[in-house]
Amino acid sequence: MLIRDSRADDLDRIQSIYAHHVLNGAGSFEEVPPDIAEMARRRDDLLSRNCPYLVAELEGVLVGYAYAGPFRLRNAYRFTVEDSIYIAPDAVGKGVGRALLAALVGRCTILGFRQMIAVIGDSGNAASIGLHRHLGFEHCGTLTASGFKFGRWVDTVLMQRALGEGNGTLPPV
Ligand SMILES: CC(C)(COP(=O)(O)OP(=O)(O)OC[C@H]1O[C@@H](n2cnc3c(N)ncnc32)[C@H](O)[C@@H]1OP(=O)(O)O)[C@@H](O)C(=O)NCCC(=O)NCCS
Repeated sequence: MLIRDSRADDLDRIQSIYAHHVLNGAGSFEEVPPDIAEMARRRDDLLSRNCPYLVAELEGVLVGYAYAGPFRLRNAYRFTVEDSIYIAPDAVGKGVGRALLAALVGRCTILGFRQMIAVIGDSGNAASIGLHRHLGFEHCGTLTASGFKFGRWVDTVLMQRALGEGNGTLPPV
């Protein structure tokens, strides 16, 4: 497996992976898959903020991607990122998510971020909850019925882990 920074020419594959999960799962609260141009705009925005946007390849095929972006935009949140991770449906359960999320955690730590938050769609999303727990995230809240998708109420699960020294030290000025 190869984990590397994403490139602009990965976006067609990234868009098709995300579109599958938008249309078939409640992990994302989007209901209409964004097109490639919109995915490119979102990626450009993250890269302009010096945020990591990684992909995973298995035997030369892009099978997943993960990125970190601002948790919220107000300035005091600047040491906290939110992660997003999506694996191609035919590649789940093979350790790709674990490798990608571990790489993302490592990269965000090097970049100086201190907390990472997962905003997980659906309290029944065992794969995402299990993956984040595996990577050291702890459950820190459930926003009950905060979404409505596929004709049912859907919870948002919040999980969090410290990066690097976390809140054990102050950030450099
Ligand atoms: C969630 C997701 C990213 C996990 O990626 P993955 O490549 O399938 O996960 P991995 O094979 O690397 O599994 C890593 C660990 O996660 C946990 N896990 C993965 N799938 C699981 C499942 N179905 N149930 C419970 N735990 C699971 C396990 O702890 C696993 O470690 P183990 O195999 O040693 O037990 C992937 O399933 C996915 O893209 N889901 C749909 C989109 C989504 O919900 N994304 C997250 C939005 S917040």
